[in-house]
This record gives sequence, C-alpha cells and structure tokens, in this order.
Amino acid sequence: MTTTWENQYASRVAGMKSSTIRELLKLTQQPEVISFAGGMPAPELFPRERFKEAACRVLGERGEIALQYSTTEGWPELREMIGRHVTRYGIQAEADDILITTGSQQALDLVGKLLIDPGEEVVVGAPTYLGALQAFGAYQAAFLSVPLDEMGMTTEPVEALLKRRPSFMYVLPNFQNPAGVTLTLERRMILVQLARAYGVPIVEDDPYGQLRYEGEHLPPLYALDAELAASDGGQPNVIYMSTFSKTLAPGLRLAWVIAPRQVLGRLNQLKQGADLHTSTLVQMIAFEVGRGGFLDEHIQRLRAVYRERRDAMLGALDSFMPPEVSWSSPQGGLFLWAELPEGMDSQVVLEEALKKQVAFVPGSAFFGVPQDGRRFMRLNFSNARPERIREGIQRLGGCLGRLRPPMAAQQPTSAPSIG
Ligand SMILES: Cc1ncc(COP(=O)(O)O)c(C=O)c1O
Repeated sequence: MTTTWENQYASRVAGMKSSTIRELLKLTQQPEVISFAGGMPAPELFPRERFKEAACRVLGERGEIALQYSTTEGWPELREMIGRHVTRYGIQAEADDILITTGSQQALDLVGKLLIDPGEEVVVGAPTYLGALQAFGAYQAAFLSVPLDEMGMTTEPVEALLKRRPSFMYVLPNFQNPAGVTLTLERRMILVQLARAYGVPIVEDDPYGQLRYEGEHLPPLYALDAELAASDGGQPNVIYMSTFSKTLAPGLRLAWVIAPRQVLGRLNQLKQGADLHTSTLVQMIAFEVGRGGFLDEHIQRLRAVYRERRDAMLGALDSFMPPEVSWSSPQGGLFLWAELPEGMDSQVVLEEALKKQVAFVPGSAFFGVPQDGRRFMRLNFSNARPERIREGIQRLGGCLGRLRPPMAAQQPTSAPSIG
C-alpha cells in the first residue's frame, strides 16, 4: 500500500494556495514582457562590483569564519551596522535588540509561529501584503480587515477589533504594499495608543521607508511606542522589521527584526528550528558592501532613479488611461494602485494585457477575507526603465479602453477608494 499524500497533510495546509505573484513571475520572466507585477528592484542598480570586491575580501581574509556555522542572532558587525542605520530613521537599537532573518518573509513566518494559535484573529489592512497573508495563514489565522484610504489604515474600525483580543495588528506604515499609501503621524499615534490600551502587539513591516522620494520621513510606530513605554513604565509593544531586499538586493535574503529582548529570545529559538541561522557568508558580504557610508549613498542613488520611474508611470497613466480609471500617487516605495470602473475585472484585464506582453498583479490577491478587490491593479514602477514604463502603460491603457463597459465611459472620475 502506498501513501495517499493528500490524507497525510496537516490541517494547516488545507486552504493554502501558491502566491498569485510568484505564479505570475514565472510568466513574466520572458524578456519581451513588460512586467509591472513583482516588487522587483532595478537589476542594473545592483552594486555588482562592490559585491564582487566584498565577496573576494570576505573569502580571502575571513573565509574560515564566513563558511562556518554562526550564531542565530546574526553577524555582530552587521547587527551593529543596522543599529547605526536605523537611527537615521528614528529607531534607537543596539546589536542585542536586533535579530537577522533570512528575508523579512522569514520574520513574518517566525512572528506567525510565535504569536498565532490556530483560529486566532489578526488585524490587517485591506488590502495588505500578500506574503504576510500567506505566512500568517499557514498558522491558521483568521483575518480582521481594516479598510485603507489615502492616509493609510483607517483608525475608526480598529478599537472595536482590538476588543476581540486579536493576536496582533499587522501594519505597513510607509508606501504600503500594494496601495502605495503612507500612514499619517496622527494615525500612527492613534494605533500605537490603542494597541497599548488593549494589550495587543503591533507588527510593523517597513521594507520601503528608506525609499522616500518626497516629503518628510515619519517616525516608526516602534519609536512612538518606545516613547510611550518610557513614560508609562509599561512594556514595549511593537515588533519592527525591515530588509536589505529593496536597498541592496533581494537575492541576499537578508533582513532584520527589532523587538523587545524577551520577544527576540523567543524568535531566536524559533529561528533555530527553521534554519539555525542566516547564511554567515551572505551576512559578512552584506556588511562589507554596506560599510563606510556606502549603504546610505546607494539609497540616495536608488531614490533618484525610482523617483524618475514613479513620475514616468504617473505621467504615462495620465496620458494613456481611460478617464474613469484612477490611481494613487505614492511618495515612495515601489508600487501604485489603480482602480477600474464598476463592472471591470482586473483578472480579465490581466489576461488581455498578457497577450500584449504586459503584466501586473490583480487586486484580489491582496485581501485577507473574501472581498471585492477585482477592480484594482497593483503596478510596480521600479523594475522597468522609463521608456518601457511608458510603452507598457500605453499597451495597458489600450487593453482597458477595449475592455471597459460602455456605461463606464460616462462615469465621472473619482479618487481611488483603495479597497
Ligand atoms: C511588505 C513586505 N513585507 C515583506 C516583504 C518580504 O521581503 P524580503 O525580501 O525581505 O523577504 C516584502 C517584499 O516585497 C514586502 O513588500
């Protein structure tokens, strides 16, 4: 008798699906496709020479250490560098407050493992990052969705949800994936205060905060909460995470968590069970690449290029979209979010767009509970050069023009409602 695999799987995998984005990425690997689908950095900006030199130096000078097992917490010099780096963004952290992870995706998984019991509720934005829904879903979370508007997660519904004692609240403060919106300072304060009042932790996921193209950086929820904890004498309540994926290279799979030390200790234990530690070699190379001010300089370069690409996409949308389509105007990050008129389905648009060699991610991928995300499209602007962005948006505009229902042509344009 042979194994019937379907009967052997744990109940937690029952509802699991492959990520729409990862499936789409397979299609968009062909060079002729103009892809607005993945959250991919511009490959021509990867500092390859600096990586080559760093790899040679690490292997030449400290190869015995770099190729050896190392501690779960992460390479000390890298953690110190991250501690210095995050102070520019308003966070006070020492090496011991930092855990290195194999991408933020691993941090999300570990947080899910640490905090979610089967069936427990997690407060998320609607829409929110698909990878977080996948990670938390694997621990059988139920999602409580909070609508977003152009100022980020709305705060009015939150108190009632916190009264249900959810496991935690997942917040993307800056240039949210997928909607591109940024949480205002006032809302950050409200969320932090409410979460403290109800004893519900906040998980703050901030891969994009370093990529701001206009306006002032806003304090992380982690920092606002730390100030409150210092004055009320209570425990800090925020787990913060960020990554090198959007600033150095996603292929490194290198990110960090900053959290109260007792929480880090637990995450550390869980990480031991997952992968013992993040690659020593990769950590040491990333440290060599980033040191001496290079990380900051490189981020400045990225900001200039991505600002231009964002503007190219906004300009192309103005030129080529039918008037009843609207979109967000992000101050940073990698995405904008477009809303189609009533009666249109972005999945159908995608099928047409792929025939014209253009890809994007349909909005329904980003909602935690069955909800109508079908009128939304997430468009990435970091990966393609401005002329390709213009060409791709022109093709997409053509598809939308052909597909729109006749009634839609008469509807007035409105600001995107986000979801
Ligand atoms: C909001 C958010 N969190 C986490 C991640 C995962 O990042 P990493 O490459 O560090 O695993 C992404 C990647 O796009 C993201 O957008």
